[in-house]
Amino acid sequence: MTPFRFLLPPLTFLLSLSAVATSDSSPLENFLHCLSNYPSHANISNAIHTPNHSSFLSILHMRTYNHRFSASTAPKPLAIVTALHVSHVQATVTCAKNNSLQIRIRSGGHDCEGLSYVSDVPFVILDMFHFGSVDVDIAKGVAWVQAGATLGQIYYHIAKRSRVHGFPAGVCATVAAGGHFSGGGYGNLMRKYGLSVDNIIDATLVDVNGNILDRKSMGEDQFWAIRGGGGASFGVILSWKIKLVVVTPKVTVFKVRRTLEDGAVDLVYKWQLIASKLSDDLFIRAMHDVVDGSQKGNKTIQVTFIGLFLGQSDDMLSLLNESFPELVLKQSDCLEMPWVNSTLYWANYPTGTPLEALLDVPKEPLTQSFKTMSDYVKRPISKTALESMWELMIKSLNVKMEWNPYGGMMQEISPSETPFPHRAGNLFLIEYLTSWGQDGAEAASYYLNISRSFYEFMSPYVSSSPREAFLNYRDLDLGANHPSNVTNIDIARSYYGSKYFRGNFERLVRVKSRVDPENFFRFEQSIPPLPL
Ligand SMILES: Cc1cc2nc3c(=O)[nH]c(=O)nc-3n(C[C@H](O)[C@H](O)[C@H](O)COP(=O)(O)OP(=O)(O)OC[C@H]3O[C@@H](n4cnc5c(N)ncnc54)[C@H](O)[C@@H]3O)c2cc1C
Ligand SMILES: *[C@@H]1O[C@H](CO)[C@@H](O)[C@H](O)[C@H]1NC(C)=O
Ligand SMILES: *[C@@H]1O[C@H](CO)[C@@H](O)[C@H](O)[C@H]1NC(C)=O
Ligand SMILES: *[C@@H]1O[C@H](CO)[C@@H](O)[C@H](O)[C@H]1NC(C)=O
Ligand SMILES: *[C@@H]1O[C@H](CO)[C@@H](O)[C@H](O)[C@H]1NC(C)=O
Ligand SMILES: *[C@@H]1O[C@H](CO)[C@@H](O)[C@H](O)[C@H]1NC(C)=O
Ligand SMILES: *[C@@H]1O[C@H](CO)[C@@H](O)[C@H](O)[C@H]1NC(C)=O
Ligand SMILES: *[C@@H]1O[C@H](CO)[C@@H](O)[C@H](O)[C@H]1NC(C)=O
Ligand SMILES: *[C@@H]1O[C@H](CO)[C@@H](O)[C@H](O)[C@H]1NC(C)=O
Repeated sequence: MTPFRFLLPPLTFLLSLSAVATSDSSPLENFLHCLSNYPSHANISNAIHTPNHSSFLSILHMRTYNHRFSASTAPKPLAIVTALHVSHVQATVTCAKNNSLQIRIRSGGHDCEGLSYVSDVPFVILDMFHFGSVDVDIAKGVAWVQAGATLGQIYYHIAKRSRVHGFPAGVCATVAAGGHFSGGGYGNLMRKYGLSVDNIIDATLVDVNGNILDRKSMGEDQFWAIRGGGGASFGVILSWKIKLVVVTPKVTVFKVRRTLEDGAVDLVYKWQLIASKLSDDLFIRAMHDVVDGSQKGNKTIQVTFIGLFLGQSDDMLSLLNESFPELVLKQSDCLEMPWVNSTLYWANYPTGTPLEALLDVPKEPLTQSFKTMSDYVKRPISKTALESMWELMIKSLNVKMEWNPYGGMMQEISPSETPFPHRAGNLFLIEYLTSWGQDGAEAASYYLNISRSFYEFMSPYVSSSPREAFLNYRDLDLGANHPSNVTNIDIARSYYGSKYFRGNFERLVRVKSRVDPENFFRFEQSIPPLPL
């Protein structure tokens, strides 16, 4: 025991003494004992996986999407509780709190920094993947979706009931509602219908006292906070009630590629001027990649314009002929299909893939590591800057970008309507992606350096004071607290809070102070309560 202990305030000291005095077993044993004593209708022992169970590693890695945090050297949880019943969620919260263990809540496991399954302090994972139901009520135009349901499962079950309903959420089918919605959730219906959180009308969660709350019992403040403020600071989301949106019986999609040689500079420059001003029915993403040039050994930039239009191709073509003729989009570039098929198309599944693929989640751990960063752009980037940006991409060889246009519904919604503040005034969101297949710290620091250097290079062209970032593209480089400390409010505000939430940060702090004043639900980038 370090002398540090004696610096603790007397009350904490006494409490920790008495905890030790009652038993000399480990926090894990106490935790497991507490779980088994928690009243439940469902046998919790079937939900517990400790390193002693042969299932431990396979359960852990079934939903670790970033290999950077799932290598054999990464810290492991003391236990994983794969909740089978709501009482298991209540038990995990209560017993972890009683034994001073931190929890990491996981639904789909796509957290870009692995925060749902890794931590530097002793922790347990509360895994929500069994909470996967999707109950669609077409007559009322709503659905209840549980936290572990994936976007693919949600799209599939909506489409089973109706060809003209959909839901605005992300492109990757394996992302789950638990993390995705509580971080905002955007996809190609964003310009028409806003974010996922703009279409959520109720939710249920387990709070820090183990109570089950819905919108009415949690109150409007907490309901506001979990729709974009990150769920894991406020409780464990069990389910969301979503409002379905109307889609046309057929939508039009296209994917066309243009390289530097094809005049990508002029095209991307023009795209910046028009993509956020087009009809709300049309969403055109621009993806920037380094590819082989026409000359051997020469690399070039390829920009893929990928589109979704709520309507038929001839209507879309005449729209584009007016506002973006430089793209020279042809009828033969366009495909018309039901909206649900377009979710497969956008997620890059080959044509003809059965819709059931939307239900799948990978059973094997992924071996790819990645780093994601994000930026908001409010002024068009000049052609000269585009050229130097691409030159650096070609030089570093391992940065991709996705540019996603805003405008439309995104500028109609007030920046304080939800914690997500990036509304009017944004032309587009940039996602940067660097990924690698090699194991180990050396490879990681090599690729992280590439990613960080590119981000630094981009600073003159993007939002500043604060340099805004998108919570769902979580980035610990923005700054973080150490999970073993009391969450420092100044670090939280200036390093990540203002960037993810702008002025909404202060309201998130007020909600947090009310619902979790002792800061049980905490992690590197959680919302801190005001000091007690
Ligand atoms: C390949 C890929 C594609 C993506 N595409 C998009 C996209 O198109 N649009 C977009 O907006 N984002 C996208 N993202 C980001 C994604 O939305 C976020 O990473 C999201 O948080 C993932 O949710 P999850 O439940 O799958 O992840 P998890 O890792 O399980 O959770 C993410 C965060 O939410 C917390 N959390 C999870 N479940 C709960 C719960 N039940 N209650 C409380 N807190 C919870 C976790 O503790 C963690 O902090 C993508 C990410 C990846 C890796
Ligand atoms: C719970 O399940 C475990 C393992 O499956 C079993 O050994 C135990 O008897 C069960 N307990 C009850 C109360 O059913
Ligand atoms: C794991 O196994 C070891 C030895 O087999 C045992 O001492 C320990 O109590 C077990 N831990 C748990 C949490 O079951
Ligand atoms: C948690 O601890 C408190 C006292 O510290 C105790 O009263 C309570 O019964 C414990 N709960 C469980 C589920 O063990
Ligand atoms: C390589 O490609 C660039 C454009 O990306 C072009 O300007 C240059 O001339 C090409 N070099 C050769 C040798 O083809
Ligand atoms: C595109 O617009 C031009 C005039 O601006 C017109 O001549 C042409 O027919 C249009 N093409 C299509 C496919 O609508
Ligand atoms: C849409 O998907 C269904 C189911 O897989 C398939 O039968 C149909 O042909 C697809 N339609 C189009 C236009 O791709
Ligand atoms: C990346 O590495 C280079 C050379 O090693 C160094 O000069 C640069 O500062 C690093 N960049 C970042 C952002 O760490
Ligand atoms: C947080 O805790 C870590 C490790 O205990 C320590 O190194 C660090 O200085 C602390 N940071 C703050 C801001 O208190």
